[in-house]
Amino acid sequence: MNKIIAHRGWSSRAPENTISSIKLALEEERIDMIEIDIHLTKDDVVVVSHDFVLGRTSNGKGRISDYTYEELMQFDFGAWFSEKYNGEKIPTLEKVLNIIDGKKTLIVEIKKDNRNYPNMAEQLCKLLKDYKHKDKVLIKSFNHEVIKDIHHMDDEINIGMLIDGMPNLVLEKVRKLNGSFVSMSFEYIDRELVKQLIKNNIQVMVWTVNEKEDIHRIKEISDRIGIITNYPEKAF
Ligand code: G3P
Ligand code: CA
Repeated sequence: MNKIIAHRGWSSRAPENTISSIKLALEEERIDMIEIDIHLTKDDVVVVSHDFVLGRTSNGKGRISDYTYEELMQFDFGAWFSEKYNGEKIPTLEKVLNIIDGKKTLIVEIKKDNRNYPNMAEQLCKLLKDYKHKDKVLIKSFNHEVIKDIHHMDDEINIGMLIDGMPNLVLEKVRKLNGSFVSMSFEYIDRELVKQLIKNNIQVMVWTVNEKEDIHRIKEISDRIGIITNYPEKAF
């Protein structure tokens, strides 16, 4: 059976990357995994958000990394989605880990742009060091350097490779990184590549599959592909 992965929590039903969207996904037994995105605040707290900047999903302005965690708490991350979620705060990864508590697998994407977070690997390893469900956390990034750093700091942390655009030499690259999974855009999925990766014990996940026909096509290629979607209900 294909694993169903709620993208940014159950983001079609509650504001993305909030405790509400994560809890909705957690409560639905047909959802297998939850995907979220992370950033670092000015005081090095790991927080959950897709964007580097605040404008789209909150009433704040500017970059997350220009605010301390306490300063970020003044902003509302729910009202943009609907009134029902007024007052939703930016979650810390620590809070999310505690809420999930090993009940589902959590996929954590370290965001990448032209400026990365020099302290991210260290902060993440600190958070996961004593987490009792470390085996149910998967860390991925388009920034393969941070993934490498994490593996060097703690080789018990599951890491995987995000691929931008057309996949090329995937098995070689993921092996070199000591990764256990790859995640790519569903548009580039290829039956032979999936077969090769699965045969070599590399998990495959595709993003972001929001149309029923596309979900069907992925299922038809292989029942071993994880489907990352904003609409898990279309994949049940
Ligand atoms: O893992 C990548 C997937 O989540 C799609 O990218 O931009 O939604 O984080 P994005
Ligand atoms: Ca993501």
